[in-house]
Amino acid sequence: MKIEGKEYRTIWFDEENKVVKIIDQTKLPHQFIIKDLKTVKNAINAIKTMEVRGAPLIGGTAAFGIVLAILENNDLGFVKKSSEELIQSRPTAINLQWAVHRMNNKLSLVNSDDLLNVALKEAKEICDEDVKFCENIGLNGLKVIEEIYHKKKDTINILTHCNAGWLATINWGTATSPIYHAHKKGIPVHIWVDETRPRNQGANLTSYELNEEEIPNTIIADNTGGILMQRGEVDMCIVGSDRTLSTGDVCNKIGTYLKALAAHDNKVPFYVALPSSTIDWDIKDFKEIPIEERNSEELSHLEGVDENGNVKKVLIYPKKSKTKNVAFDVTPAKYVTGLITEKGICEASTQGLKSLFK
Ligand code: MRU
Repeated sequence: MKIEGKEYRTIWFDEENKVVKIIDQTKLPHQFIIKDLKTVKNAINAIKTMEVRGAPLIGGTAAFGIVLAILENNDLGFVKKSSEELIQSRPTAINLQWAVHRMNNKLSLVNSDDLLNVALKEAKEICDEDVKFCENIGLNGLKVIEEIYHKKKDTINILTHCNAGWLATINWGTATSPIYHAHKKGIPVHIWVDETRPRNQGANLTSYELNEEEIPNTIIADNTGGILMQRGEVDMCIVGSDRTLSTGDVCNKIGTYLKALAAHDNKVPFYVALPSSTIDWDIKDFKEIPIEERNSEELSHLEGVDENGNVKKVLIYPKKSKTKNVAFDVTPAKYVTGLITEKGICEASTQGLKSLFK
């Protein structure tokens, strides 16, 4: 997708300099900075500090992290150690361990002279596949938007939470892909963007990328969706997922569950868009999902631009107050209207998912 009219992916390999390039998302929307990852430690740090974030993108970064590990030390023992550290870097999004396991499976049968070429090919394939999957998610989700548009014959208001946009993937996004496809087809859409405290991925990233694609959008505080739904101002919700269980339960950014409850109460369709790399076929009980808890500073401090154009971080809470920063929640399958995947749309259930996969 585009930034200032130029097409980008969120991650790519610079063949000449043998480095991985990323867009540093901690600097958006105020600064657009492309950063080099030179070592596997750089990749781990980029995931931990959320210079790259979003389930599919951290999977892609982990895959390229293994390429960087091989460039540093062409030894499977080092790759294994680095793989464990990569998996530990963020616990909730399953795409991370999925990508690391896929890379390791591929490398386990390869002799040391070929490690680098095979790893690089596989990391690129993981990223290219994600682009294709997200594009197909868009084409499948477009059918739902078209259906609503044929009835309403007016602008479709879509609410989304966090950033499940192209910045969270390699390109297209998951939740945003149907939106981009609808816009390209000339269907008028307007997006309600949940700010998504504490890190504001909605305001800082989703609104930013929609602006760059010239899609009308309005940022709302996280608690606003309920009244908009009661007033009939939301036609559908589309969110992403960090881990979808085979039961259809969806783990996503904190606050998704409350939006699903409000949607259910107001009979607003609530869709979750995800590639198959986000499905966890093993865990059956959502309480077993490792839920990330992050630094309290993400709650107590806010970053912005001051009157001189300098980026500044300020404390907004009482100094003595305690905070708890839980990063994800789980929306039970019963509140999900449908799962939009690369293979089609299915019911959020084991039967639904098995009808498309396996
Ligand atoms: O903490 P983040 O910013 O990595 O969380 C991202 C989300 O919750 C997204 O909705 C999810 O990863 C889906 S990305 C297509």
